[in-house]
Amino acid sequence: MKLNPGVRERKGDAAFPVEIYKAKRDGGNMNELLLVLDFGGQYKELIARTVRGLSVYSEIRPGSTGADEIRNLNPIGIILTGGPNSVYLPDAPKCDPEIFNLGIPVLGICYGMQLMCHMLGGTVQPCKKSEYGRVKASFRTQSVLFDGIGEQGTVLMSHTDFVSKLPDGFISTASTKDCPHAACECPSKKLFGVQFHPEVEHTDNGRKMMEQFLYAVCGAKGDYRLDDYIDTQVRRIRQKVGDQRVLLALSGGVDSSVCAALLSKAISGQLACIFVDHGFMRLNEGDEIESAFSGMKLNFIRVNAQHRFLSRIKGVADPEQKRKIIGDEFARVFEEEAGKLGSIPFLAQGTIYPDIIESGGKLGATIKSHHNVGGLPENLAFAEVIEPLSGLFKDEVRALGRKLGLPASLTERQPFPGPGLAVRVMGEVTREKLDIVRMADFIMCEEIGKLKNKPQQYFAVYTGTRSVGVKGDDRTYDAVIALRAVNTSDFMTCRYAPLSHRTLSRIASRITNEIRSVSRVVYDITSKPPATVEWE
Ligand code: XMP
Repeated sequence: MKLNPGVRERKGDAAFPVEIYKAKRDGGNMNELLLVLDFGGQYKELIARTVRGLSVYSEIRPGSTGADEIRNLNPIGIILTGGPNSVYLPDAPKCDPEIFNLGIPVLGICYGMQLMCHMLGGTVQPCKKSEYGRVKASFRTQSVLFDGIGEQGTVLMSHTDFVSKLPDGFISTASTKDCPHAACECPSKKLFGVQFHPEVEHTDNGRKMMEQFLYAVCGAKGDYRLDDYIDTQVRRIRQKVGDQRVLLALSGGVDSSVCAALLSKAISGQLACIFVDHGFMRLNEGDEIESAFSGMKLNFIRVNAQHRFLSRIKGVADPEQKRKIIGDEFARVFEEEAGKLGSIPFLAQGTIYPDIIESGGKLGATIKSHHNVGGLPENLAFAEVIEPLSGLFKDEVRALGRKLGLPASLTERQPFPGPGLAVRVMGEVTREKLDIVRMADFIMCEEIGKLKNKPQQYFAVYTGTRSVGVKGDDRTYDAVIALRAVNTSDFMTCRYAPLSHRTLSRIASRITNEIRSVSRVVYDITSKPPATVEWE
């Protein structure tokens, strides 16, 4: 749920105080824990997510987390992530050296392996030849990590340093043409390292290696299941809320929708959901959201504020100003509606785990500090914030939504900016331009919907440029629509999707035929960086 539609997503460093996990455990979360210590690698979430996919609960903490704190958390194992630094440089991030003496199994991945070797007396130095991409490797299958996989395989490498000398007590367990120690271990101390990335699909049997680490080395029970999550949360929400009421701002995005469904299961009848339709939604979206939720007992209130929003941004062309005005207006409408409901002690929000990792770990600590609710009116007093999805990754949230019976149109929804189509119309927004981009977007989605492999995000943009065309015998001077489709794993970076010419030409032909005032369609082939996903 993005309560403040004006605020763009914020990314930051992971910092997640130990109190939160302890509080969660005290609240009943007794799953075994695998700790992921973060050294700045781009795959940290993928590592944590892969571990959860193998039925072991995982959390990400800063690489500097102290040994005492870790002992307190009592994890069954630790994974040290990759990272962009060189361990031998003075300011490179280090871990507490004590963690190697805790008796807890450690798996270092890429930088994590280099760090472990460096800190335990090995040598790390620049590669003579860096390795990037898929590389052939040989494995010593006596290693428990590689048990059950072949002696040869392909792994994903991405490194400019390598371990040239192993610490005492370590043996080499894999190699590539240019990397003599592509994996190593000290089995008696349960310390393992891999220079490659087992967490990505490009590494053959990578998942199997992670599984070996979790089950054969750490002795995991595999007690983490999403099914249990619903029961635990329902119990906890009921305990916390008692017979009081809860307010949820429902945007129709995946997170707030799943949050609404979960709350409705837990405290049906005590929930009020305000859905502000600002008029910048995609075709039929407002009605879809209404029909999905009006069947549930959650006091769904739809506020049709299209006219208000449009008149507030009339004449405004600057993107940031547009976002700000929409955010302010959203807060105002929300406040008015909430006021009509009388005082409600609890505010619920669809914060998910990556939001917490990205915003520095302030789980529900304060309403105003979180980017999702940055626009909440200050005089709305809530005694407490409820964030029942705060332990889940996005795909877990989608799976939970499916289990709770939400339709695929909601659970599989693409990311959509809070200000909606208003930031997909360049420059001043008018009703006519919105109608055009909404229809173009619908056509594009319909056509891409037929493809087997869909990009992660795709939409149409009203570019604000007009161009000359010819329709029938008439010369036209009409709108130019841009199509954007991207592949990404985290939306922080992306590559444009290489849609086939056949698909592109079908979309272009439908848009120019079915929308009278469009003369031309272009395809955006820029990656992020340097461009962003959205145009504004
Ligand atoms: P950018 O344009 O920053 O977008 O590359 C990255 C991802 O974030 C989405 N996005 C937003 N999401 N509120 C949101 O909740 C916003 O204001 C917002 N702006 C961009 C965008 O669609 C993409 O998936």
